[in-house]
Amino acid sequence: MKMVVGYAYVFFFVFLASAMNAALSEETPSAGSNSTEFIRKCCATTLYPGLCYTSLSGYANEVQQSTVELAHVAANLTLARLRSTAFHVAALGRSATGPERGALRDCSEQLDDAAEWARHTVAELKGLHGAVGPEVELRVSNALTWMSAALTSEDTCTDGFLMVAASSAKADVCHRVRKVEKYTSNALALIHSLRFNR
Ligand SMILES: *[C@@H]1O[C@H](CO)[C@@H](O)[C@H](O)[C@H]1NC(C)=O
Ligand SMILES: *[C@@H]1O[C@H](CO)[C@@H](O)[C@H](O)[C@H]1NC(C)=O
Repeated sequence: MKMVVGYAYVFFFVFLASAMNAALSEETPSAGSNSTEFIRKCCATTLYPGLCYTSLSGYANEVQQSTVELAHVAANLTLARLRSTAFHVAALGRSATGPERGALRDCSEQLDDAAEWARHTVAELKGLHGAVGPEVELRVSNALTWMSAALTSEDTCTDGFLMVAASSAKADVCHRVRKVEKYTSNALALIHSLRFNR
């Protein structure tokens, strides 16, 4: 009997402690934590939190605890990855032959488009810094539209390889584009969160 009471007490205490922890972490998302912790918390809402954190924690100084700056840096990073991937795919296309050549060329055009959408996204987010009133909602909504368009172009690139026989170039491009899609998806999630908390 004494044993049972003891266990009940321990369970109650553990329950209480975890409830208090949950309450504390909800109440102090920024006050007690530093910018690295802030980035980790924001990244937890994305589909690829590990990639989000490792790619963005190096920008802690720029981000501080600004959700706008975090989304801005994430979009900017996506743009840089898109540009280098597009460049790589274009080079592969120039040396390829047969149906693979067509798919590589189409893909490199799609990635150029995606980079252009990402550039528009970055511009909207940059303009968000001084924005007030309805301009905020408009810019966030535009940024979401542009970044979704980038993701669609990336999908179109890999779809173009569906009927192309397996090869090292195909595997290389699909691998790289899947990676850049993860960056894009994370940037989208961080932009999306601007709608609810700024
Ligand atoms: C920020 O927090 C992390 C983990 O909580 C800690 O490792 C790091 O040293 C902290 N950095 C600063 C500058 O306080
Ligand atoms: C965006 O990326 C470029 C390099 O690709 C860099 O020079 C610039 O500082 C970055 N801006 C932000 C806000 O991250």
